[in-house]
Amino acid sequence: MIPSAFIDDLLARTDIVEIIESRVTLKKTGQNYSGLCPFHQEKSPSFSVSQDKQFYYCFGCQATGSALTFLMEFERLDFISSVEALAARLGLSVPDDRQRQSSEESQRRKSVLLQLEKAADFYRVQLRSHGQRAKAVDYLKNRGLSGPIARDFGLGFAPPGWDNLLKALALSDEDVSFMIDAGLLIDQPEEKKRYDRFRDRIIFPIRDLRGRTIAFGGRIIGDGKPKYLNSPETTVFHKGRELYGLYEARKSQAKLDRILVVEGYMDVVALAQHEIHFAVATLGTATTIEHVERLFRQVSEIIFCFDGDLAGRNAAWKALLIVLPLLSDGRSAKFLFLPDGEDPDSLVRSEGSEGFVKRLQQADTFVDWFFRKIQQDLVSKNTDIDTISGKAALSKLAMSYLNNMQEGVFRHLMIDELALKTGLDKERLQAVTAKYAAPAMDPQPVAEPGLADHREISESVDLALALLVLQPDLALEFNSSEYEILLGRSQDNLLAQIALRISSDGLTNPGQIMSLFSDKHQQRQIRQAFDYKPILGASQLRDEFVGLIQQKLKQQQNETKKLRIEGLLNKNPSELTASERQLVRQSFPTPES
Ligand code: GTP
Ligand code: MN
Repeated sequence: MIPSAFIDDLLARTDIVEIIESRVTLKKTGQNYSGLCPFHQEKSPSFSVSQDKQFYYCFGCQATGSALTFLMEFERLDFISSVEALAARLGLSVPDDRQRQSSEESQRRKSVLLQLEKAADFYRVQLRSHGQRAKAVDYLKNRGLSGPIARDFGLGFAPPGWDNLLKALALSDEDVSFMIDAGLLIDQPEEKKRYDRFRDRIIFPIRDLRGRTIAFGGRIIGDGKPKYLNSPETTVFHKGRELYGLYEARKSQAKLDRILVVEGYMDVVALAQHEIHFAVATLGTATTIEHVERLFRQVSEIIFCFDGDLAGRNAAWKALLIVLPLLSDGRSAKFLFLPDGEDPDSLVRSEGSEGFVKRLQQADTFVDWFFRKIQQDLVSKNTDIDTISGKAALSKLAMSYLNNMQEGVFRHLMIDELALKTGLDKERLQAVTAKYAAPAMDPQPVAEPGLADHREISESVDLALALLVLQPDLALEFNSSEYEILLGRSQDNLLAQIALRISSDGLTNPGQIMSLFSDKHQQRQIRQAFDYKPILGASQLRDEFVGLIQQKLKQQQNETKKLRIEGLLNKNPSELTASERQLVRQSFPTPES
């Protein structure tokens, strides 16, 4: 795609007479130039070129167009080559639309970031000087936070009222639009309403690794709902990628060797208050591959912290599955389960940092948690893991996961542990491994019952949908506008609806996703999608998903184009604009191809 402004400019600087004259003999006749038409056989000249209007016209064959179309028709060039030919004459190079777009985008991002930075300053100033600052300051004090910690985390106060920030920051319409893009304002154009998103809240700026403020979290002061409010997804903020406190952790420590992943803003800040400066929080989403990859780039040990209840254990298992393919030698992951009703904030306050660090030391290793969970699962299905068949089931189940791990010492340790638990020797287990090893894209379906196969599922269920429900943050790989395109395709409508809801509402929970749909058929599709068990590695899942969606978008684009061309073919050719003719012509195979 060449920017149309460039083409306009090109045509404005090109004289059609010069272009045609060098190829066709022209004679000045009154205002215009005329000659023998190059597009049909003729004896007397009916081909006319207008210099004022910069177009040609043939009274004989009705050929018409601009300098650009002339080159295309006469030289049989495609559109881009003709543009290049015209540009070359003028000594210009054709701008790459992607470059141009990306520079516009980066300008816009800069402006959005600037508004966010100004907002962060505004909120900080309010915490120091607003008339009602006392209640915010008291709240923070009551939660055990000191001034220096509030400063390190850049905490602020969004005062009560609908338009404090709007009034302080929006000097122009452009500012308003950047503030909306930044998620700082809520915009309701139908009702002609526009107001501050964060009102009467403690503000936690969310900063990227470079320390730039990219979003905010806001906690209500005292009780009320919603307790926390987060910035929406924006061009600079993707929940599935960012971790609250990572910047602050890096800044505070000369050497960061492990990172603790917790659930809440307050947990991160409270731990820092107790000199535990290596905690980060996910932003109201489950842990994603991107989170883990990002963390392993900083440190070699990640400790995940979860509630001890069922929801916490489920979340911990999901985190384990995400970590599994990313574990390689030298990397480790641990799982810390907290007592009922406690969170890191409450524990560190009651037990002090020593007590909390002791808990960290007693966290489950990856191996512990992995075997504990699959043994629990087998037991809950009434499998006695002390029997021979129970041990076989255990090794089968374990190996189906371990096959997703990278080859290396750590994987061997896991297999050693499995050998120990089942009494099977390592060679036997390796043989089992080979049997269940289902390398990505292996055309041989795995026939064992109980191990759902990629191919088997993909026939009944859309694989893209299965991947999406398996790992909802994949939705963020594409923009809403792209999913909106897919809404129109009946076979992709459900997928698109789910993806849109995930990106707009941050849904990550299977139950929530399921409850969005009451239609039996849709529910069945979703349930089948949930049954899908990945045999691809985590990063391959992402590539697979991106590839599938791109394919769908392309299909849809082709279908739209086909419909459009069919419509054009039904029209009288002389009614078509140059670009429409171009489209029609492109739909026919060129002689060379
Ligand atoms: P405190 O009550 O301040 O100690 O918060 P907490 O961190 O203990 O809260 P909780 O465990 O309830 O929530 C953990 C995280 O989930 C928060 O840090 C938020 O990111 C998110 N969260 C909690 N409540 C809400 C809510 O009402 N809306 C949204 N969007 N996110 C929430
Ligand atoms: Mn808490």
